[in-house]
Amino acid sequence: MASTFGAARVLVASNRGPVSYDVQADGTLSARRGGGGLVSGLSAIGADADALWVCSALSDGDREAVRRGVGEAGVRMLDIPADVHADAYNGIANSVLWFVHHMLYQTPLEPVFDAEFRRQWASYETYNRAFAEALADEAAQGAAVVVQDYHLTLVPGMLRELRPDLRIGHFSHTPWAPPEYFRMLPDDVAEQVLRGMLGADRLGFLTRRWASAFEACAVEIVGGLGDTRIGVHGLGADADFLRERSHEADVNERITALRAEIGAGRRAIVRVDRTELSKNIVRGLHAYEHLLASRPEWRERVVHVAFAYPSRQDLAVYRDYTAEVQRLAEEINSAYGTPGWTPVVLHVKDDFARSLAAYRLADVALVNPIRDGMNLVAKEVPVVSDEGCVLVLSREAGAYEELGDDAIVVNPYDVIGTADALHEALTMAPGERAERTKRLAAAATALPPAQWFLDQLAALEG
Ligand code: G6P
Repeated sequence: MASTFGAARVLVASNRGPVSYDVQADGTLSARRGGGGLVSGLSAIGADADALWVCSALSDGDREAVRRGVGEAGVRMLDIPADVHADAYNGIANSVLWFVHHMLYQTPLEPVFDAEFRRQWASYETYNRAFAEALADEAAQGAAVVVQDYHLTLVPGMLRELRPDLRIGHFSHTPWAPPEYFRMLPDDVAEQVLRGMLGADRLGFLTRRWASAFEACAVEIVGGLGDTRIGVHGLGADADFLRERSHEADVNERITALRAEIGAGRRAIVRVDRTELSKNIVRGLHAYEHLLASRPEWRERVVHVAFAYPSRQDLAVYRDYTAEVQRLAEEINSAYGTPGWTPVVLHVKDDFARSLAAYRLADVALVNPIRDGMNLVAKEVPVVSDEGCVLVLSREAGAYEELGDDAIVVNPYDVIGTADALHEALTMAPGERAERTKRLAAAATALPPAQWFLDQLAALEG
């Protein structure tokens, strides 16, 4: 049998991989490297020739790259049929599992688990099986495999059957729903998700809270964890990378441009998100509006700099949400704006250098998700801030577990409470603000991405 084993000793599996391709006008392919914690976490093993990252082909360029056999060493993209991928990714992963774990359903009308759902669920199984088979094919005997996130919950169980010799881990980057919410899923599906994940030797979560919720689901629905171990790894910000990157020339240029948009002498309340339902951007804008309405002394003296980058635009609810964010920003600007002052500066085009520029000059960072696995923006801002920044943080973000003591903590549904928190943040004495930023930065960088990943590998081996 040994001859059928692959060569990779450490494998990662995720829907979104570290690289993507675009077809250029002349037909050639250009590669783009993605950012994010997982990518920098895996740079820890990137140099290792025995490591392999298995991911989906997501764009036409990606599919073309697979067909042409173009690719990076250490990355294998799976060309799953586009309709199967769409059902699994848009349908099940992003419209069902993401909604369950972030508790996003408006329950009088949703969810409805009908024949369409069952069809999509079958695609989700097919898509998970494609990953399990590729991993089984590539893994050396006794290799370690770390499967990422809610897209791939069935992979550990499937892979265990194909390759009992492997050490299998799974890591969740999202919250986990409490049992009474998780049980909205049809019983057999809820069981399949849990049993799929429990095929792993070890499951990782970002916080104790999400780990406990998973455990509670497992106890209620499948009678416990069996032999699977659970660990908590609070992914931190990559201080070295951020400090260096945030002082490069393109970031400095954007600081100048942003300062011009904000206007001299004004304070900046900054937020940076994917335009994501769980990020609570709309209530954040309402809170800012309430601040201007209830405390007129802030008019002309503060600007809300909101970056809301496009995300999951195949889904109508995301498109509608994006439109609502834009509408509301315009409404606030026409209600309160003056010839020399634009109260909300909204940018929707993704630009990492500009995000870093905003982090550096922010007086206040608003991170108010309804629910969030961690939220790395909350961790990145204090690291790169030039003169200290007050963090207004939702108690429903995973980052609250580590940063709650030095942030101003809000209930994300409470718009008036959030407006009061913004006022408190804007009036905090500079000395206290600097002290808190220092402590936030230390807590935020306690577990850098590379260490986060190596810890999981060590725990899987132990
Ligand atoms: C969250 C998920 C990731 C996902 C990311 C971006 O952070 O946990 O798995 O990659 O959102 O979403 P997208 O759907 O664009 O991959």
